[in-house]
Amino acid sequence: MVFGSPPADPGAPPTPAAPAWLQKRLRQRQGSVSFRRYMDWALHDPQHGAYGAGRLAIGPRGDFATSPSLGPAFADLLAPQIAEWLLELGDGPLALVETGPGEGDLALQLAQALQAGWPALAQRCRLVLVEPNAGMAERQARRLAQSPLPTRWTDLASLAAEPVRGVVLAHEVLDALAVQRIVWDGQAWREQRVALTATGGLTLQPGDPLAGWAAHQLAGLGLLPNPQGPERPSGWCSELHPGLEPWLSAAAAGLEAGRLLVVDYALEAERYYARPRRDGTLMAYRGQRASPDPLQDPGHWDLTAHLCLESLDRAARNAGWKPLGACRQGQALLALGLAEALHGLQQRPAAGGADLADLLARREALLRLVDPLCLGEFRWIAFARGEAAATPRFLREPPG
Ligand SMILES: C[S@@+](CC[C@H](N)C(=O)[O-])C[C@H]1O[C@@H](n2cnc3c(N)ncnc32)[C@H](O)[C@@H]1O
Repeated sequence: MVFGSPPADPGAPPTPAAPAWLQKRLRQRQGSVSFRRYMDWALHDPQHGAYGAGRLAIGPRGDFATSPSLGPAFADLLAPQIAEWLLELGDGPLALVETGPGEGDLALQLAQALQAGWPALAQRCRLVLVEPNAGMAERQARRLAQSPLPTRWTDLASLAAEPVRGVVLAHEVLDALAVQRIVWDGQAWREQRVALTATGGLTLQPGDPLAGWAAHQLAGLGLLPNPQGPERPSGWCSELHPGLEPWLSAAAAGLEAGRLLVVDYALEAERYYARPRRDGTLMAYRGQRASPDPLQDPGHWDLTAHLCLESLDRAARNAGWKPLGACRQGQALLALGLAEALHGLQQRPAAGGADLADLLARREALLRLVDPLCLGEFRWIAFARGEAAATPRFLREPPG
């Protein structure tokens, strides 16, 4: 651990003072903690964290928008896939488990779509929400008061005590697991730390050389110093995902049989750890603004890092999941009928006033879901537990 070094850059602008709670915690730990711990506090601390305190608002008028926050189109397209997976599980009670439900939009919209399109299936299905942040769970409870399916909240450990048969959704949640930041100092890989400056601000510092799990990961990703490999400049940094495998193991323990759908920004290792990506993928979001600075106003910004597809695949296999395939959201939604939904909107008789505005808004929402510069770039990655599973509908040819 390196505390008090490197010396402050005399040309660097002064950093604003960190909040008192964080200064106190850093002082109690000799002035610095791993970036992973800092990210965990900044997001999930029950009193001060952006999610923990229920501070972040999701939606077009909130801090950032997600696919389900744009309206019910996303859930309406996803519902046939969920129904198919649930029906494949045969008779008996079933569960739709959403992890990290945010505002509860997706859970509510899917419950409504199942009830409308598959009423017999909905009769034996309940919603199970996994939300560790009390501040978010309170808002979800208000939203889900209208759920047509029986709904309960739990955590993955409790779910493992009474495993369910069903579908687990992880929509934009694994990017909220705290990451380990790694820095190349020209000679060795080090774990990045967050340290308190003499003036009470925050700074990033290279810490101890990586060992154990992280060193093993680096070897698996081909990142160990290699004379044939691309030289990385000193200060090049990126992320590893130590929270993934424990999370996937806990999710696997909670599911006796069924499917897991992960939807998130993700990159192939070759692109994730490419030499030009010298600051990794970590970003902060607040008030519809994005910033590469993870240290500003801790507990008020969302912090997210992309997933690495190969690391996710390895962690999932180790956790007992069988990979079923992956694709971009644009491709998945076209396979699930997005083009037909657009066509259907265009065939409506000419409308005026509020009807026309509604039609245009729905058309716009559908197009945003597949925009290759934004939500269309999300990856859909499916896994199975239990018996052999067929190719998911979203990976099959689009209808017609
Ligand atoms: C970006 S929001 C996603 C919201 C929602 N899925 C959507 O797409 O609109 C992340 C959510 O995951 C929750 N979360 C964070 N860490 C989690 C964890 N380890 N397990 C389950 N949920 C978590 C957050 O509190 C928040 O509700």
